[in-house]
Amino acid sequence: MIEIEIDGKKLEVAEGSMVIQAAEANGTYIPHFCYHRKLSVAANCRMCLVEVEKAPKPMPACATPVAPGMVVRTHSDKAVKAQKSVMEFLLINHPLDCPVCDQGGECQLQDLAVGYGGSASRYTEEKRVVAAKDAGALVSMEEMSRCIQCTRCVRFGQEVAGDMELGMIHRGEHSEITTVKGETIESELSGNMIDICPVGALTSKPFRYAARTWELSRRKSIAPHDSSGANLQVQVKNNRVMRVLPLENEAVNECWIADRERFSYEALNGEERLTKPMLKQNGQWIEVEWQTALEYVASGLKNIAAEHGASAIGGLLSPQSTVEELHLATQLLRGLGSDNIDSRLRHAQFSQQGDKVRWLGMPIAALSQLQSVLVVGSYLRKDHPLFAARIRAAQRQGGQVFSVNSQVRDWAMPKTDITAPAAQWTAALAQIAAAVAQAKGIAAPVTAQADDAAKAVAASLLQGERKGVLLGNAAAHHAQADALLALANWIAEQTGASVGYLTEAANTLGAQWVGAMPQAAGKNAGQMMAGAGSNMRAMLLLNVEPEFDTAAAQPVEADMVVTLSPFKANMAFSDVLLPIAPFTETAGTFVNAEGRVQSFHGVVKPLGDTRPAWKVLRALGNILGLQEGAFAANAAEDVLASTGLQVGEKTTSSRYNNKSCSGSFDGLNAQNDMQEPCSAAIYQLDSVVRRAPSLQATRDGRLGQLGRKEAA
Ligand code: SF4
Ligand code: SF4
Ligand code: FES
Repeated sequence: MIEIEIDGKKLEVAEGSMVIQAAEANGTYIPHFCYHRKLSVAANCRMCLVEVEKAPKPMPACATPVAPGMVVRTHSDKAVKAQKSVMEFLLINHPLDCPVCDQGGECQLQDLAVGYGGSASRYTEEKRVVAAKDAGALVSMEEMSRCIQCTRCVRFGQEVAGDMELGMIHRGEHSEITTVKGETIESELSGNMIDICPVGALTSKPFRYAARTWELSRRKSIAPHDSSGANLQVQVKNNRVMRVLPLENEAVNECWIADRERFSYEALNGEERLTKPMLKQNGQWIEVEWQTALEYVASGLKNIAAEHGASAIGGLLSPQSTVEELHLATQLLRGLGSDNIDSRLRHAQFSQQGDKVRWLGMPIAALSQLQSVLVVGSYLRKDHPLFAARIRAAQRQGGQVFSVNSQVRDWAMPKTDITAPAAQWTAALAQIAAAVAQAKGIAAPVTAQADDAAKAVAASLLQGERKGVLLGNAAAHHAQADALLALANWIAEQTGASVGYLTEAANTLGAQWVGAMPQAAGKNAGQMMAGAGSNMRAMLLLNVEPEFDTAAAQPVEADMVVTLSPFKANMAFSDVLLPIAPFTETAGTFVNAEGRVQSFHGVVKPLGDTRPAWKVLRALGNILGLQEGAFAANAAEDVLASTGLQVGEKTTSSRYNNKSCSGSFDGLNAQNDMQEPCSAAIYQLDSVVRRAPSLQATRDGRLGQLGRKEAA
């Protein structure tokens, strides 16, 4: 630490920091545009000029390192004069169309112009005009004359998203920001460029002209798609979600969110929403009251249990559902006497894991610090965009990234690939284990001959302190998932690495915690999806569209199919549709990959006759005679309390444990006829995101639809 003085205040600041960081850390605001604490220093806007004693000219605070005894004045005449001059230059070419600008009210330029701008311009020449660009479905580049060339968007692409899709072309007065890689912006993190653009040059296309910022109420929520548990600020007008932005949480999502979390809200206002309970009678769908629908379901379940036994009833529960919903659905099925319960919808192997919860094995923030990481079975940037951003940050600091996958895919970061069909992933890990064993002079767990690629992974994992073996969605859904886990555990133990699952969905951990899988002899998802052979008579589908959310990718077959969904889903093969609230319309809890338990409240009222699913399941349970525990709850908090989970950081519970696996090293022989594991495309992950029109219009969206059609 060194001592400096800012505006007469003596401060202890970290050596090597910049003046702007020292000032910010001590509550002094220095006006700036191009500086962003998560990006490299460009120092090209000059808005942050401050007076530094003994320096002949004002200095840019974002690019001036602190030095012992430095005396800085941020508001002296000299500093303010410099700042005002910069502002005058910035405004020379700025259109100043604030009344019709989407950024109006939340614009750094507008705010600073009030403090530092003149009341009239001395410039009478024509302003320059920069042509609009069509950059795709998400980011609007209609008003590029507003750009102040701060290059935040360019640096974000290079440094965080890993793909420089925007760049600055030409020189001087002709400089402009444009797409430099393809015609459109296709990064899965592209929406963050809108947030960091300090002016209204990059704006949200779906939100364009939809509302002014001062009309919106801001409410906290938690991202409902992947397992990051990103914190959200949902902006609402007239009981309608208008926009979703990140809520900063350094330990989870930093200040970013993926486009999937940002733009999926469009589905919540879409035409496919189900707003009334519906029954299929003589092949026709009719709208009914809740009581009628619930009594119909209850009597159907009772009759089927009486006639065929409770084992003829089953439930497929989406891991995108909340802890409360999953707990009640699980308890309801168990209360009826059925153990046919599963949330592992895309799995191919269903191991017994007891009460153990498979998790990331480390805090999310630790991903950014990894010195060496082996990721098995993942399209990392599409499956887990924010984890990819963290591992990219680790790589930028010298970390080494290895992957075992069926094909080489662009992760927007340098990495070394071991490419093999899924049938040979166990063999690939066995080789890495053999290389570790050879390097340590110990016995390998299985016989294998390590090749150079395996030796390189082993050598990297044996060095350094912060390292991980991470199993992606395709590894979790693999037909030899247990063997992969056993080998990953062995490699991790011998190298001192952490072992973890990236985990697929917003509440994969919560689903495991509440036991949303067979505990005894019940049927798993694969068995329940085995068509007529499954012998299922009644099926409960909670937020599940089996044609798209399960490995079997087909409708379920049963005498009575009950779909609980916010959408008109599964209409071809369901008998009852119950409209349940999406995450914005209900209170609930998700447990993210690192085991962080995060609750949220509804941000708008349920649409039409939609009801929170936990209330629907409680009411159904009550009709079926279940009155105890969670079925007596008056609030979502009571349901959560009955699960033993507590909101906050990961508990130290020994239930979070990746060691559990029944398969050990069984099944290591390559099964050459093995199918590739089931993995959802980025915008096909769940029923909400696949109904978001703007996301579907992106390249990833279109590619995902092709896959969806094939699956159907
Ligand atoms: Fe006004 Fe800011 Fe929009 Fe420029 S970018 S027109 S200053 S609101
Ligand atoms: Fe900066 Fe926005 Fe221009 Fe990019 S588009 S350089 S973020 S002002
Ligand atoms: Fe320092 Fe732009 S913020 S030069």
